[in-house]
Amino acid sequence: MDTRWIGHPFFHMEEVDSTNEEAKRYASQGVESGALIVAEKQTAGKGRRGRSWSNTPGECLQMSLLLRPSLTPNETAGLTLVAALAVCRAVESVLPSLRPQIKWPNDVIVGTKKICGILVELLLDAGQNIVVIGIGVNVNNMCFPGELREKATSLRLETGRPVERELLMERIWQDFETLYERYQLTNNMRGLKPDYEQRLVNIGRPVCVRYAAESLEGIAEGIDTEGRLLLRGNDGIQRRIDAGEVSVRGIYGYV
Ligand code: BTN
Repeated sequence: MDTRWIGHPFFHMEEVDSTNEEAKRYASQGVESGALIVAEKQTAGKGRRGRSWSNTPGECLQMSLLLRPSLTPNETAGLTLVAALAVCRAVESVLPSLRPQIKWPNDVIVGTKKICGILVELLLDAGQNIVVIGIGVNVNNMCFPGELREKATSLRLETGRPVERELLMERIWQDFETLYERYQLTNNMRGLKPDYEQRLVNIGRPVCVRYAAESLEGIAEGIDTEGRLLLRGNDGIQRRIDAGEVSVRGIYGYV
C-alpha cells in the first residue's frame, strides 16, 4: 500500500475469528502502531453493541488497524468518527458517482442503506492505550440475507460494477492518515467537525436514541468537539449523546 505508516506491517489472512481480536493479540505481542490485519473470512466477526458481523468470504473488505496513540481514553472517542469520514472520502474518490454519508456515529451509508460498519475498541497494555479500528465494507456483495436486505447494500449493488477492494483499502488508509493528523492538532473533532457534519445524514432530522430500555426523541443538530451527538429533545432541551452503547434510528426508518 502506498501509505506513510499504516499497513507497516501488513498481515493478510485467509481466515481468522475476528480481525479486531487478531489485532489485540498482535498488540499484546508488542507489534507496532500502524499494523493492519486484513482477512478474507471471519468466523466470529464482531459488530457494535455485542452484535455479530458476517459476510460472504471475498466480497467484503474486513480489516483492523492497530494504533498506539498518545491520547487519553476520552480523546480516543472521536477516532470512530474519523474512520467513518475516511471511508466516505475514499469511497467517493474511487466511485465519484456515489455520495456516502454517515449515520451517527459511524455507519457509512449510501442512499438509505449501510455499506460500512466500524467497531473501535480500546484497551490498556502496560499503561499504554491501544486502539483497534475495525472496518467492514460491503464491496462486492450481490445480495444480503433476511432482514439485512432492508438496510444493507454494497458498492457493487449501488454502482452496478465490481469494485477493486485493494484500491479502496489503500484510499481508506491514505485518507485516515491525513484526517488523523488533523485530529491530532487538537486531539478532538474541532478541525474535522465541519466535514463530518456535511456528511451527517441525521442532521436536522428527527431521530430516536435508544439506550437499554430508555428512548429519547428529538432533532439531531450536529456534533460537539468530542464527537457527541447534539440532540434537541422534544422538550426543547439540547442533550449531548455519547456513542457508547446507544443506537440511533431515524423516526421513519433506518436513517
Ligand atoms: C457494526 O456496524 O456494528 C460494526 C461492524 C464492524 C465490522 C468489522 S469487520 C473488521 C473488524 N473485525 C470485526 O470483528 N469487526 C470489524
